[in-house]
Amino acid sequence: MIDFSQKPLVLAPMAGFSDLPFRDVVKKFGADLTISEMISSNALVFESKKTLKMLQKNESEAPYIVQIAGSNEEIIKKAVLILNEFDFIDGIDLNCGCPVSKVIKQNAGSALLNDLDLLKRLVDTIKKHSKKRTVSVKFRLGFKDKYPKLIARACEEAGADFVSIHARTAKQLYSGKADYEAILEAKEAVKIPIIANGDINKDNFKEVQKSTKADAFMIGRASVGKPWIFYELKHEKSISKELKKELILYHFEAMLKHYGKEAVKLFRKHLHEYSKTLANAALFRATINQIEAENIMIKNIEDFF
Ligand SMILES: Cc1cc2nc3c(=O)[nH]c(=O)nc-3n(C[C@H](O)[C@H](O)[C@H](O)COP(=O)(O)O)c2cc1C
Repeated sequence: MIDFSQKPLVLAPMAGFSDLPFRDVVKKFGADLTISEMISSNALVFESKKTLKMLQKNESEAPYIVQIAGSNEEIIKKAVLILNEFDFIDGIDLNCGCPVSKVIKQNAGSALLNDLDLLKRLVDTIKKHSKKRTVSVKFRLGFKDKYPKLIARACEEAGADFVSIHARTAKQLYSGKADYEAILEAKEAVKIPIIANGDINKDNFKEVQKSTKADAFMIGRASVGKPWIFYELKHEKSISKELKKELILYHFEAMLKHYGKEAVKLFRKHLHEYSKTLANAALFRATINQIEAENIMIKNIEDFF
């Protein structure tokens, strides 16, 4: 289902960004694998309408992976049993990288890197109960220090089919240099495929391919405001201004379909990113921050881009 021999390009899970409409857009530009935003296993077990909506996927997303977060074996098991009911989900990914304090306080996300035995038990629990084709783990290089080999081996031993590695520690949050050598260390310590992640963009893609020897590459922030990056990485050419405009309008339409009227406000952050580096972007941002009506938003997008 995921052909790692083709070195696939993966959209990183990003809470607040990699929702169904955004994943629709990146699939159009050739992203090979998409993953949901992080979904709390507690919320999943509660089966709220909002959480269940977060599980939805586009038809184009095949394969499609749902990422869950949590630290309690019983709750993770229940979450897996719920996910088993949705045939359109192909894999389950465990978040072991989130550095947000609310998540760490629950011993979840990157806090699991401080307790590899618990991490292993959670992966094992998912593996045991999941009816999905893959179980995977997304992790950082360590919590404070770097021990990527130990983490990768723990995941492999517990039955993970592949792992994604964000080349930073949890303590580094999102700053400091991504350490691609550390991904290579993990790659050489295990047999399962490794997805490299962290600061990958058009300029360093070839270098990251060489230095990590990874089996796939995951792109997050470089795709926000530039979802066409997947096409550009694959074909080594840029897309036209006209196509970009068409795409931005398509993205907004998809947001309206998914969120209804709420989409107007939610789309502002995407427009901020789409307009970055263009002339008069500050004025455009100030204008669209005030807009509440869909048709006025569309008119402003058409005029600006
Ligand atoms: C706004 C935002 C939300 C994120 N949400 C998640 C998430 O839900 N799950 C996850 O595993 N990582 C999450 N991440 C981390 C990214 O998946 C990725 O590991 C990180 O941004 C580094 O890759 P990049 O430099 O290509 O963005 C998030 C990152 C950002 C910027």
